[in-house]
Amino acid sequence: MAETSYDVIIIGGGPGGYNAAIRAGQLGLKVACVEKGPTLGGTCLNVGCMPSKALLHASELFEMAAKDFAGIGIQVAPKLDLVQMMKQKADSVSQLTKGIEFLFKKNKVDWIKGKGKLAGAGKVEVAGDDGKTTTFEARNIVIATGSEPSGLPGVAVDQKRIVDSTGALSLPEAPKSLVVIGAGIIGLELGSVWRRLGAKVTVVEFLDRITPGADAEVAKTLQRALAKQGMEFKLGMKVTGAKAGKSGVTLTMEPVAGGSAETLDADYVLLAIGRRPYTEGLGLESVGITPDKRGFIETDHWKTTAAGVWAIGDVTHGPMLAHKAEDEAVACIETIAGHAGHVNYGIIPSVIYTWPEVAWVGKTEDELKAEGRAYKVGKFPFTANSRAKINHESEGFVKVLADAATDEVLGVHMIGPSVSEMIGEYCVAMEFRAASEDVARTCHPHPTRSEALRQAAMGVEGWTMQA
Ligand code: FAD
Ligand code: NAI
Repeated sequence: MAETSYDVIIIGGGPGGYNAAIRAGQLGLKVACVEKGPTLGGTCLNVGCMPSKALLHASELFEMAAKDFAGIGIQVAPKLDLVQMMKQKADSVSQLTKGIEFLFKKNKVDWIKGKGKLAGAGKVEVAGDDGKTTTFEARNIVIATGSEPSGLPGVAVDQKRIVDSTGALSLPEAPKSLVVIGAGIIGLELGSVWRRLGAKVTVVEFLDRITPGADAEVAKTLQRALAKQGMEFKLGMKVTGAKAGKSGVTLTMEPVAGGSAETLDADYVLLAIGRRPYTEGLGLESVGITPDKRGFIETDHWKTTAAGVWAIGDVTHGPMLAHKAEDEAVACIETIAGHAGHVNYGIIPSVIYTWPEVAWVGKTEDELKAEGRAYKVGKFPFTANSRAKINHESEGFVKVLADAATDEVLGVHMIGPSVSEMIGEYCVAMEFRAASEDVARTCHPHPTRSEALRQAAMGVEGWTMQA
């Protein structure tokens, strides 16, 4: 095989792309990954999951030190060092992206640096930074080009005063005021970061609720908790424009239901109204792929309509989550290698890393009602969980939804402390098609927050041990 020929070429080095490349290397396929950015890791490692979680962690500790430490007998007067906070974020990101480079070497993955483009069946053309274009050949091409922030007419992102998530991860100062457009996951996570660091945060949302997709009762509880922390919500509002000046932005909006227009001034505006698939300049037409009207590449078991061309991650349908991209990566490559690739799309967990955290998996109550499916509910509040109580973090609850006839767990919705770390227990249970009674009769360590998971399952049959 010539140097420029591969079994698999993957376009994009994010969680979809790098996991696909590593799995291909593990399975002995000759593999290359084309990435146009200066580092591997894609959105998630460079400007998504990782830097946002680094700032969420640091800002959470800052706020705890300022507000909660005195109550447990620790007197401190924390002072924000934003430069150091940003530096530790950048250091962690750099270690993680270098880790992927190491894994590429270990698994014999060639990193082709440059922008990749499909150039007819089995061909990928890469335009390098040096201006040279090289054509590579591959039996299989996997598109993993990810997504980019959606825009809004009248709100021009300049990454100075009007920022998207990337800009909001690197503001040069802690703003006094920040308006967030969109009460989704990015808006609430990054809004929380800057509120904790001193900003007055106002969230403007088109719908009459926050976090569409999350269980309605959980969303209401989250909104109440965030409002108590000082975040202001303007729901049912349509943003009509944003005008950036040297020192701030004026936002104009009007109620969706009709009524008079309003203006809002802030130091910065964060636009976070969703993300769209990224396929710019990808040459899809050269292999006859037409994306759907929202720009997604349609697939059937990760196969596109073009022979030998596959697509995974944010660029395809489904939740735009790193772990969904990773699972698809492994399944796609295993299928290419002749194994049985599998993704259980019914059990992809979602997490919102606010305080309290939100985590869920499976169906919501609204979805079950819409399906006409009879279900039972078990619910347990963290106020009745001893570990949460002694840690002074007893906001929230765990809710388990189980089939009324078979008792199979159909959905789990949690809001509370460390629920991001606990939802995996129910993912495993659901993967094994557990009944709520299976969880209810499983011994859990005491005292831990995880006991709330068991107690909620016990609640399905009404034998929760609650004061
Ligand atoms: P991406 O990560 O977007 O990677 C695509 C890569 O392809 C990029 O590196 C891009 O440069 C490259 N590329 C594109 N076109 C070409 C081309 N033609 N040639 C060469 N390279 C190309 N998800 C979670 O699960 N948990 C979280 O906590 C979380 N937090 C997030 C926070 C923020 C602020 C954001 C924006 C997103 C977050 N996400 C989170 C979503 C997560 O980042 C994405 O779902 C995930 O990165 C998708 O992986 P992907 O491989 O499909 O695409
Ligand atoms: P989102 O889809 O989560 O939320 C967007 C919000 O904006 C929705 O509430 C929507 O109703 C609202 N909206 C849409 N148009 C609007 C308008 N014109 N005016 C006002 N509000 C409007 O999208 P978001 O927050 O941008 O995040 C994108 C994706 O990134 C997420 O869906 C998720 O897949 C991923 N992500 C995941 C994280 C995690 O797993 N913890 C963290 C951050 C992002």
